[in-house]
Amino acid sequence: MGSNAHVPVLLGPVLEGLKIKPDGCYVDGTFGRGGHSREILKQLDDSGRLIAIDRDPQAIEAAPQSLTDDPRFELIRGESAQLETFINERGLAGEVDGLLFDLGVSSPQLDEADRGFSFMRDGPLDMRMDPDTGTSARDWLQSVEEYELKRVLRKFGEEQSASRIARAIVNAREQAPISRTAQLARIVEEAKPARGQKRHPATKTFQAIRIVINKELEQLESLLGQSVNVLRKGGRLCVISFHSLEDRIVKRFMRDASRESEQYRGMPNVPEAFRPKMKVIGKPVVATAAEVEANRRARSARLRIAERT
Ligand SMILES: C[S@@+](CC[C@H](N)C(=O)[O-])C[C@H]1O[C@@H](n2cnc3c(N)ncnc32)[C@H](O)[C@@H]1O
Repeated sequence: MGSNAHVPVLLGPVLEGLKIKPDGCYVDGTFGRGGHSREILKQLDDSGRLIAIDRDPQAIEAAPQSLTDDPRFELIRGESAQLETFINERGLAGEVDGLLFDLGVSSPQLDEADRGFSFMRDGPLDMRMDPDTGTSARDWLQSVEEYELKRVLRKFGEEQSASRIARAIVNAREQAPISRTAQLARIVEEAKPARGQKRHPATKTFQAIRIVINKELEQLESLLGQSVNVLRKGGRLCVISFHSLEDRIVKRFMRDASRESEQYRGMPNVPEAFRPKMKVIGKPVVATAAEVEANRRARSARLRIAERT
């Protein structure tokens, strides 16, 4: 796959899940290379509208003119967790018909060694989706306390060898800063020899550090909460997650939002403000074997859909 390619995951189920109305207003909160955006736009008529968000300046730059010239389309550089602000600024609160979040990193982010996301390609250890803000993985690893590093590896990587890896990283950085992806991959590999696993031994470590550097779970919690205020009644929320930590957050949010507030549970005449805000639509959707065959990224994708009530 070329470095600019990103095949949209679960495209059919997403389009169906959004229940697109041709004159509706939609938000793609994770534009990436616009795979989903392009297809959503195709289903809109002249009065439809699509607002897309991405915090990666390269994603913004790479947006094709066919999209950016389209008067129905608007692309915003920013965080998805600023969703409500962006929507309020446009006077669209409670008027959005569908929201899509296709979480995590894009193929170009992983493919380009310079972004520092990949243990497969040597590059500077950065891992920021927006390289203009926050702390790079290199700087973070240089100063993080060992116990905190261990906690991050365990919590965000579900890494069983967290202690050994954290120790190895701290030992290594005392010799020299860990500034390359290959260097980090090697340290992890040596601390945790591959035992016939299919995945590279550094997979979970890279995932954990990426999540913390980009505050991915905080972003997710925040944007889910905001979705309730942004969507109109009957509007759809579609979220694609790629690992169990994300999926658990999405699942919990949708479940909790589809119940009345605790103090009114099971009672008649629940006041409006305490009634369920969402309704879960169907079961989580995963990719077919054919899609996984064609696009490895789809293998861990899980789409959950809810509707604003
Ligand atoms: C998996 S890709 C999306 C791919 C896209 N659906 C497509 O088909 O081309 C995720 C994108 O969302 C962006 N992203 C992830 N989390 C974000 C957040 N919290 N705020 C803004 N952008 C985010 C990443 O920079 C990346 O470009």
